[in-house]
Amino acid sequence: MLGLLLALSMILAGCGGEEVKSNEAGGKKALRVVTDAAYAPFEYMDKDKIVGFDIDVLTAAAKEAGYTVEFNHVGWDPIFVEIEKKRADIAISSITINDDRKKSYDFSIPYFLSTNKILIPETSEIKGANDLKDKIVAVQNGTTGQAAMDALIGKNSSNIKKFENNNLAIMELIKGGADAVVADNAVIEEYAKNNPDKKLKVIRDDTFASEFYGMMFPKGSAIKADFDKALNKIIENGTYSKIYKERFGTEPDLEKLKS
Ligand code: ARG
Repeated sequence: MLGLLLALSMILAGCGGEEVKSNEAGGKKALRVVTDAAYAPFEYMDKDKIVGFDIDVLTAAAKEAGYTVEFNHVGWDPIFVEIEKKRADIAISSITINDDRKKSYDFSIPYFLSTNKILIPETSEIKGANDLKDKIVAVQNGTTGQAAMDALIGKNSSNIKKFENNNLAIMELIKGGADAVVADNAVIEEYAKNNPDKKLKVIRDDTFASEFYGMMFPKGSAIKADFDKALNKIIENGTYSKIYKERFGTEPDLEKLKS
């Protein structure tokens, strides 16, 4: 009898042998994941497909936790609205975990260590954040890069040019409308490396804080615990390191992730 039930439930689950947990909507409906896929190498469009490090990590964690997921490129600002209004189950988008956001959203355990850096033309004289005080800086609106520039240059300064996505901020720099872009290190480092014809370089400034990325959930989300557990699991079993190596070519510093 038990065997029969088991066989029956396997057939119903699609014979994959993999358990598929039902979510709020019941049945096997995929979790709705929202992102701003204009932030390579973390999330970006490859033709009509959303790809990147974040996508790989969440896909692996979801598989581990027994959920199916569906990624939607909605843009940066809409991510926060979708999660706040509970129209999406998870957001992954290189989102820095900070106290301000924690007031309105829940976050997973950290899955990536990042910091803001400065993208400038190769010939620029800018040496660090202090030199940005009287310069025009392009940032993505509503990011920690913008917050850092608000603090440095002044919150409503017209010297801070804000863009809907980070690629537009980089375009502004390239066409000469800004002296620098401030954004997450891996993103601007990858851009400078992949576009040598644009003759850009990245400099660091130790006054920019270390930041951790987390998956973001609606407050009180019931699935957060499952994803924390799954993240821990894929970090322990080597899946995370494999993904990291594929995307960045180096081993991750797992100790730093835990601290
Ligand atoms: N880590 C920064 C923040 O949380 C920037 C993230 C931007 N992400 C994106 N997909 N555009 O504010």
